[in-house]
Amino acid sequence: EKDLKSKIIEINTEAAKYYHYLLRSDRGKTAYHYLKGRELSDETIVKFGLGYSDKYSNNLYQYLRSKGYNDTELKETGLFTFDEVRGVNDKFWNRVMFPIMDANNRVIAFGGRVMGDGKPKYLNSPETKVFDKSRNLYGLNVARSARKDYMLICEGYMDVISLHQAGFNNAVAALGTAFTSRHASLIKRYAKEAVLTFDSDEAGIKAALRAIPYLRESGLAIKVLNMKPYKDPDEFIKNMGREAYEERIKTATNFFIFQVDNERKNYDLNDPQEKTAFQNKVAEMLLVFKDELERENYIDSVCRTFNISKDGLSRLVKKKALNYV
Ligand code: UTP
Ligand code: MN
Ligand code: MN
Ligand code: MN
Ligand code: MN
Repeated sequence: EKDLKSKIIEINTEAAKYYHYLLRSDRGKTAYHYLKGRELSDETIVKFGLGYSDKYSNNLYQYLRSKGYNDTELKETGLFTFDEVRGVNDKFWNRVMFPIMDANNRVIAFGGRVMGDGKPKYLNSPETKVFDKSRNLYGLNVARSARKDYMLICEGYMDVISLHQAGFNNAVAALGTAFTSRHASLIKRYAKEAVLTFDSDEAGIKAALRAIPYLRESGLAIKVLNMKPYKDPDEFIKNMGREAYEERIKTATNFFIFQVDNERKNYDLNDPQEKTAFQNKVAEMLLVFKDELERENYIDSVCRTFNISKDGLSRLVKKKALNYV
């Protein structure tokens, strides 16, 4: 089992080198230009070991067989499809390749992006004996050495890479998978605070709202960045530059204010009934703070932000806290 794991990593490493070599060869021209079009420097391409998977049906397979790996081993990597009729084929075909490293820099999987609008946009390695999506974060191999108090948590490969290229070397992403408590504990090992910088669309907001309880559980402080009017950190940085992003970090929203702000969208605050319902909802939300002083501070902050009467909300919270225990 241990031997098999290191064998998979060894094969993945060979595959990453091969993809990278292809990207820099004539056959990888289109892919290379695609990455240039996305404003990645050669230095960044090398740092993240980006590559290209060719248009031939199984040239990675042929290459690895010629290096002496057998089918049993190759099957375990998830990089190939074995079919009785169609034979063995490479899983990744004509895509820009992103090797996924674990915290110790070992290549455990790949993501591959189509160049253009094909579907799926990203294809990822299946889970294998060395790749558990819920236990790994893209970019952590670099971000862990950043030694900053906080980590930037974003959605995608390109967000992580753009952020790093702009000097934010503490960015990581949960890869197209739901953020789990394991991801949260992983972050807690290296940082005190999680700064969520997800996409500004509805899916990104939902993902942030779902991640918050896990991050709280692991004891991290949490802030949320707003990437509007851009779609994601990658586009934000491209259009606004690194100083503007830095400014967003400085003016980041506290996670609770973010949650309440999101809740507020469900109420028409000009209607007294709805305003009361909203205040009740906020009072309930405030019960997550067990420490009295902390709760007081949040009541203070929420009332200032949302223009709510402090006496009223405090009373409501006290009442709810009594019924709560
Ligand atoms: P997005 O759709 O936001 O893509 O997915 P993106 O990262 O901004 O990609 P670009 O900028 O168009 O290249 C966010 C992340 O979700 C996962 C990938 O990890 C992606 O980076 N994803 C997305 C998939 O795994 N498969 C998909 O088909 C799409
Ligand atoms: Mn899993
Ligand atoms: Mn998205
Ligand atoms: Mn993007
Ligand atoms: Mn995106």
